[in-house]
Amino acid sequence: MIFDSHAHYDDKAFDDDRAEILASLPQLGVCSVLNAGTNISASEKSVELSNKYSYIYAAVGIHPECISECDYKDLEILKNLSQNEKVVAIGEIGLDYHYSAENKELQKDFFEKQILMANDVSLPILVHDRDAHMDTLNLLKEHKPKGVVHCFSGSMEMAEEILKLGMFIGVGGVVTFKNAKKLIDVVREIPLECILLETDAPYMAPTPFRGKRCDSSYIKFTAQKIAEIKNKSYEEVLQKTRLNAESLFNVEVPL
Ligand code: NI
Repeated sequence: MIFDSHAHYDDKAFDDDRAEILASLPQLGVCSVLNAGTNISASEKSVELSNKYSYIYAAVGIHPECISECDYKDLEILKNLSQNEKVVAIGEIGLDYHYSAENKELQKDFFEKQILMANDVSLPILVHDRDAHMDTLNLLKEHKPKGVVHCFSGSMEMAEEILKLGMFIGVGGVVTFKNAKKLIDVVREIPLECILLETDAPYMAPTPFRGKRCDSSYIKFTAQKIAEIKNKSYEEVLQKTRLNAESLFNVEVPL
């Protein structure tokens, strides 16, 4: 049974067939999905989906790429949303210097304020870190939230720092890509007990669907790759990563 710890089913890519796709997931072995917010409206939709489907949990947060369209008052709205009982994380939040390097200070400020909010409401965070490893790590070390670094793209040294903080490493479709050598090395070295499986649907579809719209059922290809890298069974990878997600998000998924 699959726990997809990071997806965006509120995305417009699912507007035509969202209900069909979501209804099909349990038969495809997906027992749970954590839907991540990116701005206020996506976070609200995330909560709505979680209230509609028993197997969907919600995260609420402002993504670094959405900071420019947000304002500090939105943090209050997020905090209120986080009180909904299906909200199990604050995210996705973090730093992205790849797509938007011109507002680094503002990104850091929103990231820090959302980490503090997560600590305040005792929820873990979903971290987005793209080309911003040092600044991300510094804020995590300073405030020590619980959480996961989603779509991990750092070095082995960074992975070790993340694990020392008691955080998890999110591994998605990228691990199946041809040029994934650095991530494969990290996955080989770190214990399975520290890995969360994720899709980032509709993005990051694993090989052989790279470039196509992704949904949570494609996580099988990612799990198979992790099993191969770590010389474990496919079933063990699914089971351990599900238990990891249940422990981090403090939920018990009915099987
Ligand atoms: Ni995402």
